[in-house]
Order: sequence, then structure tokens, then C-alpha cells
Amino acid sequence: MTTSVPTAEDGKRSVWKDSGLVDSYLRQTRKGVPLAQIQLDVMLRVIAGSKSGTLHRERPVRNFLDLGCGDGILAATILEKYPDAKGMLVDFSMPMIQAALRKLKEYSRSVHFSSVDYTDPSWFDIVSTHAPFDVIVSGFSIHHQSHTVKQQVYTDIFDLMEPGGIFMNIEHVSSATPRIEALYDEYFIDSLWANQLTDNDAQTRAQVAAAYHKREDKQENILASVELQCEWLRRIGFVDVDCFFKIFELAVFGGRCPEVSGDEAA
Ligand SMILES: C[S@@+](CC[C@H](N)C(=O)[O-])C[C@H]1O[C@@H](n2cnc3c(N)ncnc32)[C@H](O)[C@@H]1O
Repeated sequence: MTTSVPTAEDGKRSVWKDSGLVDSYLRQTRKGVPLAQIQLDVMLRVIAGSKSGTLHRERPVRNFLDLGCGDGILAATILEKYPDAKGMLVDFSMPMIQAALRKLKEYSRSVHFSSVDYTDPSWFDIVSTHAPFDVIVSGFSIHHQSHTVKQQVYTDIFDLMEPGGIFMNIEHVSSATPRIEALYDEYFIDSLWANQLTDNDAQTRAQVAAAYHKREDKQENILASVELQCEWLRRIGFVDVDCFFKIFELAVFGGRCPEVSGDEAA
């Protein structure tokens, strides 16, 4: 396992570089994400492709990128199914990279880490040394960027992939209206509350709701609708773009790089 020298510590400020926030995200928020296992299963299913037809993929995953990897939950899911794959994991938070190093200990020979900020123009060249990727995944990360930067990141992802490669984003997207956003908030709070009921220091639902509404990372959310983001992906050149799963503001969407120029968008 190799980790490039941290360069991002003096770069952009972010709550994600704070070890206290990372700890509470990994112990509480991530574990309370509603239907999290289904999101991962859908991601794997699209990556695996169909047994026949144009989405047929003969090869197992060989070389993947996990963008904004956090503790490596998406990478671990891929490596469990494809133990011979190699992975590059990018995250500008050293506490997150440390958590990922622990989670992926058994895959230490197959993974490489970079602490580069993927909004910094240098990131593309750094990551290119490991490209092209046959799979690129990201989990709950790109929504922290402005819409302009999101589109640049999606373009960079497209340019880092090999023909036929799959991009899957498990992402926090916007609700259609404030009323639907309120429904989503209640749904997430119920899930967080239920998830911690067996803890020794379990909180009341009101306490969980108060913490949810004032959590620090909320201020870094810049949400876009899944429809808009799928449209961006199509414009960039991805094909087979779809939202494969969505429950309120939690969406699993992505697309495929054409095999050859002229590969038909469906
Ligand atoms: C909500 S966490 C999600 C972590 C993990 N992918 C998951 O599914 O649990 C968002 C992650 O994206 C990382 N991140 C956000 N913006 C980033 C950037 N510009 N460059 C690198 N990492 C970034 C944060 O440090 C954090 O680990």
C-alpha cells in the first residue's frame, strides 16, 4: 500500500479534515444511511454488467478509482467481489485516509492512496499516472463542490476512464421541493435514531434530530438534482446514463464510457 505525501493539509479548508467530525460521521452518520447496503449492491450490479448484450462485461474489475473515498467503504465493497483488482483511493482528509488504511489492511498490496484535492488542477496529472480506470466510483463526496466544479470533475472522470469503463456515483442529491426535503430529513433522522438504539449511550429521537440539523458538514452541501446531473453526464459523452436507485435525496447514478467513438447513446 502506498500513500503519496500529504500535500492538501494546507490547501482548501474543509470540515472533513477534522478528526472529531470524521469519527462521528463514520460511527454514526454513515452507519445510519438508509438503505446503504442496497446502494452498494446496485453499484456492484451495474459494474458487473449484464450477462449478454451491450452491457456485457467479460472481465472482472481490474483498476478502479474511488473519489472522496472516506474510510474506503466503496473500495472495500469492490475488492470483496473482485479481490484481484487494483484500486486508487483519493481523499484530502488525512483522518479519512487513516480510517481507510485500517479498513483495507488485507488489500494493502492492491491499493494506492492520494491525499490530493480533486478540485485542484494538479489532481488530474497525479491520478493519470494510474489511469485508465475501468471503474470509477464516488460516495457522497462530489456534492460538496459548486455545480461548475461538479461538471469539471465529471469531465475529468470521463477522461480518466478506458473505453467501456463504468462510473457510479452514490450521492446526496437535491429534493424537488422544500416539503419533500423535510420528508427526507425525517426519514434520515428515523434511520439514524433506529441505528443507535442498541448503543449504551443511545439518544432520544429529539436529540438525534437536533444533532442532525446542526451537523457541521451540512454547511458544505451544494445539492443538485439527479436529473440535472444525469444530463451533465450525457453531455460530457457518457452513455447508458441513468439513476439506478433513489430514495428521497439518496441516489445511485452514473454511466458508461463509449467503447468506440460512435457508440450509441441509449
Ligand atoms: C461524506 S464523506 C463520504 C466518504 C465515503 N465515500 C462514503 O461513502 O462514506 C465525503 C468525503 O469526500 C472527501 N472530499 C470532499 N471534497 C474533496 C476534495 N475536493 N478532494 C478530495 N476529497 C474530498 C472528504 O474528505 C470525505 O472523506
